[in-house]
Amino acid sequence: MSSDADGPATPTESADPVLAVDGLRKRYDDTVALDGVDLAVADGEFVAVVGPSGCGKSTLLRVLSGLEAEFDGRVAVDGTDVRDGGSDAVGMVFQEPRLLDWADVRENVAVGLPADVDPQSPAARDRVDDLIETIGLDGFAESHPDELSGGMAQRVALARGLAYDPSVLLLDEPFSALDRLTKADQQDHLLDVWEARDTTVVLVTHDVEEAVYLADRVVVLGGQPGSVASVVDVDIDRPRERADPELVALRREVTTALGR
Ligand SMILES: Nc1ncnc2c1ncn2[C@@H]1O[C@H](COP(=O)(O)OP(=O)(O)OP(=O)(O)O)[C@@H](O)[C@H]1O
Ligand SMILES: [Mg+2]
Repeated sequence: MSSDADGPATPTESADPVLAVDGLRKRYDDTVALDGVDLAVADGEFVAVVGPSGCGKSTLLRVLSGLEAEFDGRVAVDGTDVRDGGSDAVGMVFQEPRLLDWADVRENVAVGLPADVDPQSPAARDRVDDLIETIGLDGFAESHPDELSGGMAQRVALARGLAYDPSVLLLDEPFSALDRLTKADQQDHLLDVWEARDTTVVLVTHDVEEAVYLADRVVVLGGQPGSVASVVDVDIDRPRERADPELVALRREVTTALGR
């Protein structure tokens, strides 16, 4: 593909994407999970990744987060290869909150602080308390996980993922275990956090409605091994209406791309 250095930058062609994936191939023993994945995410962009079960969505996030160092291709965050420290700039939120049962909310959030920060220091405590306020759990700093609802626990996991002040926040189906109303609240909460903290988000989800409601761009993975099957831009101002006919039409477009 030819490129015009003076031409306008689009998120996918931006010279300096915060997240750059080129020709990613990931194999587990006999299984090739991903092959030929290219993806560029611009600073501040909100990207959703959808795709059928087993197409490699979690694998992609694990590679981006540095949890999987064995792969072919180039994966960089802020211009640094994830194998050379680029993954330090990445925060991760999993499907289950994965909180420490014996620790309170403040301690659970502090787990996400950089290793060289003393969690007992006044600055660290301020940062953690600020995050607890950001996720709307002031008053619960001393609560333990068994005293929290599922949605609250997932918000603690979000705060822990933000404690490092990451350039990119990766979320792997963070709301899939929640009931519909709680899920809608958490989606709006994530949008608030994304806007307030000016972070870049890559959200993996099975839920097409969630993808088009939240994201600037929906990346559809498909095939086995998985690769990018199509990309749907969601060029709709926020706040969005879930029942907006334009959004519904985009939902249909993504669903068709998924082959459902
Ligand atoms: N640790 C592993 N060892 C061997 N194979 C694996 C491992 N993790 C994933 N795989 C395989 O890689 C492929 C992609 O798995 P992955 O978990 O990334 O899919 P996914 O899109 O996240 O699926 P789901 O929607 O069910 O969460 C699958 O074939 C899976 O069996
Ligand atoms: Mg998965």
